[in-house]
Amino acid sequence: MQVELIDKTYNMRNKLIAGNWKLNPATSDSALELCRQLKLRLAPFSKAKIVVCPPFTALCLAVDLLKGTRISIGAQNLYWEDSGAYTGEISAPMLKSAGCEYVIIGHSERRLFFHETNENVHHKIIAAQRHNLIPIVCVGETLQQRESGVMKDVVMEQVTEALRGMSEQALQNLVIAYEPVWAIGTGKTATPAQAEEMHEFIRSLILEDFTKSVSDQMLILYGGSVKPDNARDLLQNTNIDGALVGGACLSAESFSEIVRAGEELL
Ligand code: PGA
Repeated sequence: MQVELIDKTYNMRNKLIAGNWKLNPATSDSALELCRQLKLRLAPFSKAKIVVCPPFTALCLAVDLLKGTRISIGAQNLYWEDSGAYTGEISAPMLKSAGCEYVIIGHSERRLFFHETNENVHHKIIAAQRHNLIPIVCVGETLQQRESGVMKDVVMEQVTEALRGMSEQALQNLVIAYEPVWAIGTGKTATPAQAEEMHEFIRSLILEDFTKSVSDQMLILYGGSVKPDNARDLLQNTNIDGALVGGACLSAESFSEIVRAGEELL
């Protein structure tokens, strides 16, 4: 009986709900208010992992205000050098000392507007892990790539180039987020079946290069117009281990409803 219980726990993946605030809100006062609301609304939850990723200028206030809660703080980007003459950049040790535990890497908006390549993403992951930050590595195809049927090739290239040469241990401290570009901020969500199919594919890619236990334990989040009313349908799929939420995380009420959907499945 006891052995059965241990095995079950080992195989069970948690749900991780992360909120990506992007370039919002405009003032520190509003960031503070959002943190206060999150602290209240998220207090009842005890199982799902919760991460909020404010803009750089609000990181320290979020860390301060959410100290002692179950909410972890993540950044939205970093540069791979630790220090030096790189005007405008921010490094892993800076984020770590500000109190971050996670960092989003390779978001499609970074790839599209700031020309980040798979190579850049790879360097950023290595830098983050060197300083014990958990990377949330974003991958996903554009609408054109999906319509022309190459979406799995695109995602395979993004995943394999990002994780190239990494150790099993490094993979245990990394999260992948599948975010179809056509579903981000558009109100269009991948159907649960479309999302699950890609998540299963990503897990199979991990299994090609790493052990079954690493692939079984890997948290793979879905991102792209996740809202309280579609969260449960997405999160209940076997290979969907959480959500990376954009628009809906700017309201503590809707973000907490998404966390609730995750928590109820645990
Ligand atoms: P969205 O953004 O929820 O507003 O679609 C998701 C993301 O970009 O991470």
